[in-house]
Amino acid sequence: MASLYEKYVLPKLIDLACSQPPMTALRKRYVSEAAGEVLEIGIGSGLNLAHYSEQVHSITGIDPAAELTTKARERAADLAVPVEVLGLSGEEMPMENNSVDTIVCTWTLCSIPNPYRAVAEMRRVLRPQGKMIFVEHGRSDEAHIAKWQRRVEPLWKKIGGGCHLTRRADELLADGGFKILHKETGYEDGPKIAAFMIHGIAQTA
Ligand SMILES: C[S@@+](CC[C@H](N)C(=O)[O-])C[C@H]1O[C@@H](n2cnc3c(N)ncnc32)[C@H](O)[C@@H]1O
Repeated sequence: MASLYEKYVLPKLIDLACSQPPMTALRKRYVSEAAGEVLEIGIGSGLNLAHYSEQVHSITGIDPAAELTTKARERAADLAVPVEVLGLSGEEMPMENNSVDTIVCTWTLCSIPNPYRAVAEMRRVLRPQGKMIFVEHGRSDEAHIAKWQRRVEPLWKKIGGGCHLTRRADELLADGGFKILHKETGYEDGPKIAAFMIHGIAQTA
């Protein structure tokens, strides 16, 4: 059962942390690349919704955290495009094989308990030539920062809703059979252990 911290404090902290200007800039840049039928994994409080373009026909957002998806449904109400928000895990999705044109996954692979299963599911449901848009934080390329990330991670996971500091979205996707078409890495503003970003676009290989 969720603690009071997880139910009342953490959702507000996540919404606030994920609304910071550097993250909004990355959302603007990448989410606008989505087209067709979009599946957003870990839609959270719906902070990407404002950044979808007219190329998008429908958005299905999944996330097991009801405390966050209530806000996502409120934000979806302003959109012209149909949005469905479902309380599901990315580890097991009911969508058909090859059924979506774009997957959007922003700062979510860090928190999914089994990211390997989630990546396999993403690969299964994404159409050939479809776009997998990923924007994540993760293990730094600098060894001394990565060492601190490993040290801090056990505590960070406890206060951050299961968020890991040392996962690498690019490695998870490549290991799961995706071809990385474009990738950038680097620090945004903020403490280096949490500010190393990995973002880009992948396709089913
Ligand atoms: C840091 S928040 C990011 C939320 C949102 N993607 C954004 O960019 O603002 C991490 C999200 O991952 C979600 N999450 C955790 N486990 C998940 C799972 N098994 N499947 C899908 N989403 C999950 C959390 O509920 C939370 O909404």
